[in-house]
Amino acid sequence: MQLIHTVKEMQAFSDNARSAAQKIAVVPTMGALHKGHLALIKKAKSVADIVIVTIFVNPTQFGANEDFSKYPRTLESDCKLLEPYQIAAVFCPLVTEIYPPHDASWVEVVGMDKNLCGKYRPGHFKGVSTVVARLFNITKPHFGVFGLKDIQQFQILSRMTQDLHFGIEMVGVETLREASGLAMSSRNVYLSAEERVQATVLFQALQLAKAEIEKGERDFAIIQPKMEQLITTAPLAKIQYIEAVSPHDLGLLAHFEGQQKVIIAVAVYFGSTRLIDNIIVNL
Ligand code: PAF
Repeated sequence: MQLIHTVKEMQAFSDNARSAAQKIAVVPTMGALHKGHLALIKKAKSVADIVIVTIFVNPTQFGANEDFSKYPRTLESDCKLLEPYQIAAVFCPLVTEIYPPHDASWVEVVGMDKNLCGKYRPGHFKGVSTVVARLFNITKPHFGVFGLKDIQQFQILSRMTQDLHFGIEMVGVETLREASGLAMSSRNVYLSAEERVQATVLFQALQLAKAEIEKGERDFAIIQPKMEQLITTAPLAKIQYIEAVSPHDLGLLAHFEGQQKVIIAVAVYFGSTRLIDNIIVNL
C-alpha cells in the first residue's frame, strides 16, 4: 500500500495503472475509518482491479460553525485498518495540495441542495462537489464508490459525474448498521452511551415510514408526524428535518402517487452531534 501525498505522484500512479489496463476504483473519505468505510472498500475491490482510498478532511464542505477543526484525524490508525485490504494506494494530501493559493475554481450542482441537509448547510455540497471533482481528476478512477447513508451527496455527485462527462461509474453502497440499527458514521464517536442508545430512534422512524408506505399510505403529511412522534420519545433528540424527496431531483414530495421510489430522510441532533439517516422505498 503506497502512501501518496502529492497530486503529481498520484496522477502518475494512476496513469501507470491505466496504461497497464487496470481498472481503478476510488473510495473518497475524510478518514476516521470505520466498518462502513471497509464495506465501501470491499465493494470497490469487487468492481475494479485496484483500489485507491483518499483521506482528506475537506475544509470547503464545513460551515463556519461546524466541526472542521475538531473532526477526527487518525491517519496512522486508518492506515493500520486498511493494511489487510491490499489497497493499492492511500492518497492523503495537505490542504494546500488540493487548494493551492490563488485557486479559484468551484463545481456546483445547482438546485439539488435546496432540501434535506443542503437547506441547513449552505455551501456544503458545493464544497463536496468541488473536492470530489478534484479527487476524480487526480486519482483518475473508472469507479467512484460512496455510501448511501449520505444519499444527497450520492445523488448530487452522480449528477455532477453525468453532467460533466467524467466517464466514471458511480457505485452506491448500502448503509452499514450496528445491531441496534444505528447507521455507522465517523460522528458516532462523539455520542455518549446514553445518546447512542437513544439514537436508534432514527432507524426505527425510517422503518415506521417504510411500513406505512407498504401498507398503502401515500400521503407524507400522515407519515411525517408519526415519525416525529417516535423520534421525540428519545428525550435527547432534537429533530432538524424529516423529509420525503424524489431520488431524481431531490425535490420534496407531499404525495407519493406516480413515484417509483421515494427517499425518506432524517437529520437529528443528539447534543452537538448531528446524525443523518435515510431509507429508499420502492412503491
Ligand atoms: O463522505 C465524505 O466523507 C466526504 O463528503 C467526501 C465524499 C470524502 C468528500 O470530502
